[in-house]
Amino acid sequence: MDVKLLKDRAGIINGGASGIGRAAAVLFASEGAKVLVADFNQAGGEETVELVRKAGGEAYFCYCDVRDEEQVKAMVNKAMELFGRVDWAFNNAGISSEESVPLHETTTEAFMNVINTNLLGYYYCMKQELRHMVAAGKGAIVNTLSINSVCCTPEGSSYGVSKYAGYGLVQTSSLDYAASGIRINAIGPGPTKTPMIMHCSETHPEVISYLESTIPDGRMGEAIEQANAALYLLSDFASHITGQLLLVDGGQSAKM
Ligand code: NAI
Repeated sequence: MDVKLLKDRAGIINGGASGIGRAAAVLFASEGAKVLVADFNQAGGEETVELVRKAGGEAYFCYCDVRDEEQVKAMVNKAMELFGRVDWAFNNAGISSEESVPLHETTTEAFMNVINTNLLGYYYCMKQELRHMVAAGKGAIVNTLSINSVCCTPEGSSYGVSKYAGYGLVQTSSLDYAASGIRINAIGPGPTKTPMIMHCSETHPEVISYLESTIPDGRMGEAIEQANAALYLLSDFASHITGQLLLVDGGQSAKM
């Protein structure tokens, strides 16, 4: 039996221009979803839409910087205009810090850029998405958190704060909406081969081999493996699961 896990369900992927978000757009559309791909990288977002359409799926692009509440509101309004509903949302946009330094050496600007993107981004997106899901009496949200939602990396204070707090947001909001038929979960990638992390593979290949040596299954994750986990949590297979963080990390967190 050919079961499409998101058949005719419409939703939004932000951070859809690259990496995990792009893999998710192609995967979700192949599972029958109508997808609004949002990102502040317009060229990358449009390329993702093309990939989805070439594979026979339905997708549209929306420019959106998740640090800006008005732009997030416009993104969700665009989904409502296109689809008439927001059945699911994958809040995935995120950055690592441009600084890798202990706390007293951080600049407030760089620190706040990570918080504004990774944490306020979830807040703005969920707030707008939930308004429509509450009205519909159903919905599912998955946020991309991190292995750094449950354990820390040195010299990564802003990223760690954003991802730990993002987990708090998933758990508290899951309680607020469980009785309304809305499930809120997260995936927690370990090191995964996307541009975010692979940009240093040419200049610092030792960083990648070190990372791989710390992972029990001996390799970094692929973007599609993260997308698979998000698909599961958004689908009816996860119908009794809310408030959870699914770590997709080759066992790395289990040994910490
Ligand atoms: P990526 O860099 O390939 O993709 C991130 C996407 O987010 C890009 O398309 C970027 O343009 C977009 N984005 C960044 N800031 C934005 C903003 N203000 N507004 C709209 N879009 C914005 O990286 P990747 O790995 O696919 O990242 C996706 C998520 O996965 C992020 O939340 C990241 O923190 C998380 N993650 C990634 C890990 C990895 O090893 N790659 C490990 C743990 C978590």
